[in-house]
Amino acid sequence: MKKEKEILEKLKKYREMDLKYEDGRILGSMCTKPHPISKKIVEMFLETNLGDPGLFPGTKRLEEEVIKMIGEMLHNNNPFGYIISGGTEANITAMRVVKKMAKEKGRREANILIPETAHFSFEKAREMMDLNYTVVPLDRKYTMDVKYLKDYIEDNIEKGIDGIVTIAGSTELGTIDNIPEISKVAKEYNIYIHVDAAFGGFVIPFLEERYKLEGYNYHFDFSLDNIFSITVDPHKMGLAPIPAGGILFRDFSFKRYLDVETPYLTEDSQATLIGTRSGIGVAATWGIMKVLGPDGYREIVSQCMENTYYLVKRMKEYSFERVIDPVLNIVAIKDEDPVNTSLILRKKGWYLSICRCVDALRIVVMPHITKEHIDRFIDALAQCKRD
Ligand SMILES: Cc1ncc(COP(=O)(O)O)c(C=O)c1O
Repeated sequence: MKKEKEILEKLKKYREMDLKYEDGRILGSMCTKPHPISKKIVEMFLETNLGDPGLFPGTKRLEEEVIKMIGEMLHNNNPFGYIISGGTEANITAMRVVKKMAKEKGRREANILIPETAHFSFEKAREMMDLNYTVVPLDRKYTMDVKYLKDYIEDNIEKGIDGIVTIAGSTELGTIDNIPEISKVAKEYNIYIHVDAAFGGFVIPFLEERYKLEGYNYHFDFSLDNIFSITVDPHKMGLAPIPAGGILFRDFSFKRYLDVETPYLTEDSQATLIGTRSGIGVAATWGIMKVLGPDGYREIVSQCMENTYYLVKRMKEYSFERVIDPVLNIVAIKDEDPVNTSLILRKKGWYLSICRCVDALRIVVMPHITKEHIDRFIDALAQCKRD
């Protein structure tokens, strides 16, 4: 007992070295403090293993239910999918399907169009699976250039295009590709679309009209043609504890591309990349979605958007310029030397990140960030520019 106490004391010391969301200094993360109900759920589902679902049929049932709940949020009443480790695993899983489909068509490499703003998880997928990416440049809105995409497809149709990756809530700027337009092209040429809505998946469906930019297309879900898979992460704006990523496919037929035989488990095939996997993410996502409901999420998203606008307002007072009007709760602040500025700010205890596609600092206005935090940060940034 004494030993246990000592160990816990030591662990506490390590934990105290970590930053805390509530201090408001984590400005560049897409994760946040999980919903308070999570603690009890984590304890209840601690020993569950969905890698062997026959042993945990209740937790498996929860996974089916939560995938259905997320599917409904994305206009699909019959989805197939999993709650997995995160957006990275989800994107890799989608690329596994595209690769398998290409293989069935007799192509060794899958030809995939991918936007310049794609998350680096796609680079991991490329390395693992010998994927052949063509990077589509960005247009003025920092979204995938649809004209380039169309022309490229028309010019290369002989070669065969196996997939298009689109983003609904880009990591750097929160932008959303014009997925309805891309869907039309994909339908015409029978191309698979994967939408990476790891971040936007729990924001866009709850975004009130008053926060939507004029002329911007926010539509990204399964109601569009040829959207065959969507990454949507509960552990980002879904408020679930890490790890809880999500991958949804249009229907059950996609499972066969992922299945491998599992002779010594309670089920004879497994589709997920990871074998042994906790049921905590599943149960927590289920619980949080039930507790919050659409109204709860709408309230959280609205709060984040209000704080996003507040940040923009405070930036204007100091003539700090934004790269674009915020589409979601992400703000990019133009900066001549973002690496240096972010390093200086880090030394002062502010943790924000930078963009890759443009010289800018990047702030994700997550639920743990308040107006007071924003005020303090703006003061710190102004001070940094004066020094
Ligand atoms: C758009 C997008 N996709 C995928 C990921 C990867 O998610 P994870 O870090 O949960 O693996 C991120 C992470 O920020 C992201 O922003």
